[in-house]
Formats: sequence, C-alpha cells, structure tokens
Amino acid sequence: MSLNTEKIRALVDKREEARLGGGEKRIDAQHEKGKLTARERINLLLDEGSFEEYDMFVTHRTFSFGLDKEKYYSDGVVTGRGTIDGRIVFVFSQDFTVFGGSLSETFALKICKIIDQAMKIGAPVIGLNDSGGARIQEGVRSLAGYAEIFQRNILASGVVPQISAIFGPCAGGAVYSPALTDFITMTERTSYMFVTGPKVVQTVTGEIISTEDLGGANVHATKSGITHFLTETEEEGILLIRKLISYLPQNNLEDPPVIKNTDPIDRLEDSLNEIIPDNPNKPYNVKDVIRLTVDGGDFLEIQRNYAKNIVIGFARYNGRPVGIVANQPMFLAGVLDIDASRKAARFVRFCDAFNISLVTFVDVPGFLPGSSQEYGGIIIHGAKLLYAYGEATVPKVTITLRKSYGGAHDVMSCKQLRGDMNYAWPTAEIAVMGAKGAIEVLEGRNIAKIESDEEKSKYIQAKESEYIEKFANPYQAAKYGFIDDIIEPRNTRFRIIRALEALSTKKEMNPPKKHCNIPL
Ligand code: HXC
Repeated sequence: MSLNTEKIRALVDKREEARLGGGEKRIDAQHEKGKLTARERINLLLDEGSFEEYDMFVTHRTFSFGLDKEKYYSDGVVTGRGTIDGRIVFVFSQDFTVFGGSLSETFALKICKIIDQAMKIGAPVIGLNDSGGARIQEGVRSLAGYAEIFQRNILASGVVPQISAIFGPCAGGAVYSPALTDFITMTERTSYMFVTGPKVVQTVTGEIISTEDLGGANVHATKSGITHFLTETEEEGILLIRKLISYLPQNNLEDPPVIKNTDPIDRLEDSLNEIIPDNPNKPYNVKDVIRLTVDGGDFLEIQRNYAKNIVIGFARYNGRPVGIVANQPMFLAGVLDIDASRKAARFVRFCDAFNISLVTFVDVPGFLPGSSQEYGGIIIHGAKLLYAYGEATVPKVTITLRKSYGGAHDVMSCKQLRGDMNYAWPTAEIAVMGAKGAIEVLEGRNIAKIESDEEKSKYIQAKESEYIEKFANPYQAAKYGFIDDIIEPRNTRFRIIRALEALSTKKEMNPPKKHCNIPL
C-alpha cells in the first residue's frame, strides 16, 4: 500500500469514527428513546447528497475530570451547510450520543462558525437541539460559549431566517438560543424546554410537577406559545422545516421565492358570499375564508393551539408567499387579548423583516375587557400589534369581513397605519363600537325615563336598528376613503392577488434610527 493510499485510508477511517459519534451503544439508546441521531436528522432535512460537514475533526480541549482520555470527533455537534430544494441553508445538529449533546467551548465555536458564514452568504440557519446543556466539566467556558451563540443569534435576527427544532432536552440558559430565533418546532413526548427543571422547581417553590407538564411540547404549544409548531415525530418536524423554508427568502435583502401557481387567479368562491351568518353574534371559521382564497387551499398555520382567537400563518397568492393574520370568531368572538396581540405582533414583524407581504382578515369586536387583562398589561401588549403594523413597510392588504370596532379597528392594519389596500365585504361593520354598547351610552338617560319594560325594549330596539343602519356597515368608512373598495366576497382571491401584484414594487422607508423602541 502506497503512503498516499495509507493516508487516504486513515482519513476514511477517521470519518467513519466521527460518524459514529458517541458509539453504537449510545446510538442504540437514542433510537430506543424514539429519537434519531444528529446525522440522521441532517440527512432527512437536507437535499440528498448536499450536506457538506464542517469541523468534523474538532475535539474538546478539556483535561479535567478525565476528559483528556475521552474525546470524540465533532465534539457533540454536527455542523455544516447543504440545500433545501436547491437553496443553501446552514445547519447544526446536537449529538446527544456525545456527552449528552452538552455544549463545550469548541462545540460553541463550531456553531458560531456556521452562523458567521450564514451571515456573510445570506442564508438561513437551522438548529436541531438535543442537549443536556452546559458541559459541566468545562465550567464557565461553556457559559461563555452560549453567550457567543446568543450574540450571533441577536445579530442574525432580521438578517437571515433562524429556525430551531427541539428534539430532546433543552434546559437552563440553553433555551435562550432557540428563543432568540424566529421559529421553534417541538416533538411530542421526546422534547422539553424549561429554564429550571422539576427538581429545582420543587426545591425552590415546593411545587411537584413532571417534566412533561413543566416544559413538554404540549405545554409550549398551548400555554406559553413558545413553540410555533408541534409534531408527533421528528420526521414530521423536519418536513415541516423544509416546508417553512419554502415560504422564506434567504435573507432580508431578498424577496421570498415565488413558485409556479396552477390555481386560477380569478377563481370565484360563491360560498364566501354566504359565509357570514345573518346573526352577528354567530361565529364562522375564518380559516375557511383563508383556505378558500389562497393557492390550492394550502395554509401553513403557526401557533395553531395558542391564542386561537387570532390565526397566523403562511400561504401563497398566485405563487407569491404572504403572511396571513386573521381574527378568529370561533374563539372568544375574535377579540384581541394579550396573547393574541403578542402572537400576531411577532409574526407581523417577522414578515416585515423578511419582505413578506401581509394579508389581514378582520373580524374583531374589540379588546377583551376585564381586570385580568388590564393587570396583565393589555395596554402595552395591544400596543405591540399596533406598533408592528404601523412600522411594517411591506405590502399590506386588509379585508374587513365583519366587525371592526373601536381601538381594535385601528390596530388591525387600518388605512391610517399605512394599509395599502383596505377592502371590506358588504357585511362589514366598521364603527366605534357595536350597536348595543353605543345605545347604552348615547341613550342611557332617555331609556331610564321610560317606565314600562315593553316600551323600554321597543325603544332600545328602534335605536339599535337606527344605529346599525347608520354605522354598522362599511359605507361610512368608504365615504371617507378609509376603505378603498367594498368587494363581493366571492371575488376576494382575485382582488387580493391583483393588489399584491400591483404592490410588488412598493417602496416605503421608515425614518433612519438606531432601532425602534417597540413597547416590550
Ligand atoms: C456533561 C453530560 C451532561 C452535561 C448529560 N451528560 N448532560 N455531560 N455535561 N451537562 C452525559 C451523561 O453524563 C451521560 O454520559 C450522557 O450525557 C447521557 O446522559 P444521561 O443522563 O444518561 O441521559 P438521560 O437519562 O437521557 O438524561 C438526560 C438529561 C440528564 C436529563 C439531560 O443527562 C441531565 O439532567 N443532565 C444534566 C443537565 C444539566 O444540569 N445541565 C446543566 C444545566 S445548566 P455517558 O457517558 O453515561 O453516556 C446550563 C447552563 C446554561 O445548561 C447556561 C447558558 C447561559
């Protein structure tokens, strides 16, 4: 065997060793838990054969606790770049088979390297997390490593899309890297996230709680809203990331990718003409409106089980990706509350940062009243959504379907918040408040003077009808130009598409500043 052949054989052997991570036993243990290995996840995520690994031969630099005798190539994280549908992405995948995927100094440097390169090239970063946290043997060097990553997450925010999958433990300060990224997906049963685990919780507060109940995927999908997606399996989570990426531009200087559309742009949806119930207090599912108007009915909903009174997600109109925000009358009558405002505000800001047009469907009776909302700071949280819409310079198309009352009318991408095209269905009711509330305020004194209950209710009914006739319609707003046009519901798809095409060259700039001061 020539020297060259020997050296090449050595390289092949080393690569083979690196690919085994912490060894076959630990790989088997990983599979037994129903989890994939770091490399299996990458193979599923990226286009076949596209992965180019970086820093495969990196090992840790720690000598204490006997670690000088225990080293693994890649040091617990597989990093590199590849493609999804032919577009470059950078990826890191934490390898639980090596020291429980715990983060060492060199592990952190590997992640920093790919984020730095993603920033130079202008490509998304996808992090697959499965880690026991800071590598205990490395002490503060590990903490510094986390902070190096956090800093890069912060600088990359709004420059390249950052997506995190949680496929195992993610605890302590480690949660803050995913929290700084744009989207998180978790898997049922095998993933969890918390700042302090059940044992610490019990010691400090006395509360006894399981890992799943404290920070499992279901908790974060429904109660905290931390995760944007929840899937049964890792495979589904990975496919979801591929789908999510298909809506996004590579970076903030690009437009999102337009794909070929086969759904007729002038498709009339007669059922939309009938979708609003005659009774204004009856709900309907706003997701039907979304699905019936977007290309092929394909809607990628985000935070589906959190703050269900507002619906957000990605879809396409004539192949062009958009971010959709819609009040959902099926839950809490579609009111804006703290959670809904925060959920939608962050989404609006993401879309604006990445040049994704916004389509807003409005059916909002107002803000949720009550002391719990006021004590929780609905003023500041509602202001977030207001701020996000007002700050956004991407094309904004708003369609008022039914109610649009009071402050919530202003918040939901109204004309004066630089809404580009504001349409209303004939069923729209754009007013300061609903008829009942308005008549109570305006006619309270007169109503009190009426003695007979029957007369009272007749009077109220007459006044309410008068109010509805006068104010609970779209024509008042249209009269002042606050609504650009009143459209037939079945024609909504075509009108949105035409508006978005016209707005595709929109240029609007905010005044120069260091950064804004959104109410946090
Ligand atoms: C070094 C670790 C490790 C860690 C796990 N391992 N966590 N090694 N540092 N943080 C090693 C184990 O020794 C074991 O090695 C292997 O990984 C698998 O761990 P197991 O415990 O056998 O696995 P499992 O039963 O599945 O439990 C997983 C776990 C548990 C729940 C994550 O390992 C655990 O509680 N780890 C400690 C978590 C922790 O406290 N981390 C520090 C948090 S503080 P062998 O050789 O047996 O395979 C923190 C601060 C971050 O992260 C601050 C950022 C600002």
